Amino acid sequence: MSTATLSPTARRRWWWFLWSLLAVLAAGIAAYFVTPYVLGRSTIPIDRAIVGYYTSLVVHAVPAGLTLVLGPWQFVPRLRARFPRLHRITGRVYLISVLGAAAAASYATVVTPSGFPLQVAFSVLIVAWLYTAYQGYRTIRRGDVRQHRIWMIRNYTLTFAAVTLRLYLMLGTALMPVIPALQFRDVYTASAWLSLLGNVLVAEYFIVQRTRAGRPRDTRAAVAQPA
Ligand code: HEM
Repeated sequence: MSTATLSPTARRRWWWFLWSLLAVLAAGIAAYFVTPYVLGRSTIPIDRAIVGYYTSLVVHAVPAGLTLVLGPWQFVPRLRARFPRLHRITGRVYLISVLGAAAAASYATVVTPSGFPLQVAFSVLIVAWLYTAYQGYRTIRRGDVRQHRIWMIRNYTLTFAAVTLRLYLMLGTALMPVIPALQFRDVYTASAWLSLLGNVLVAEYFIVQRTRAGRPRDTRAAVAQPA
């Protein structure tokens, strides 16, 4: 939906609606899928005979869950303007968590028994996640708030692939009794690719829309300080 024709009030309401949906889904998915790993369990069947596989999922899931929950708050303009120091500290925690989660995910990607197409999807996701995080950091270090915002939208969109992946997975597994030829492995692989490509498309659509409107939401000096 294009927001260009909406009044400022309607646009604000639309923004808050989307933000709330994002924050609730992020917190819900993080709580449901990460908690079992903190308790020594899992939500999917894990082959514990594969050396380091389960450990890598724990080391991955905890910081990844943190990025998912922290991310939405970093996009709230009022919070950034009122508490710039908090934004910077949370931003550092977020970026370090991306690094840790990506490193552990790299190991899990190599050893996962889920098949080559899924390994390729996760590898692309890891590289894109690290690259956008690096660009987000680099741009704010040189004080370019506008580019920082764009790169962090891209980065969080990739983080949010953890949510869309699981939503597609739920939908796909619900379809399995209806389409007997459908295997869990296929549903998992399709969900991973769909979440990656779908999220990227949505993010680029919003970025292009905002750029064409020539309306950077927040260029306040408070946020312009280096992270
Ligand atoms: C966006 C970058 C991410 C990448 C590249 C990534 C990659 C991976 C990989 C490779 C696995 C192992 C899959 C398998 O062996 O079948 C995995 C599992 C997992 N990831 Fe991520 N992940 C990312 C983000 C997240 C986020 C933000 C969360 C937060 C909820 C998360 C939570 C988990 C959990 C809980 C598992 C264990 C499997 C499950 O219970 O569903 N990941 N991830």
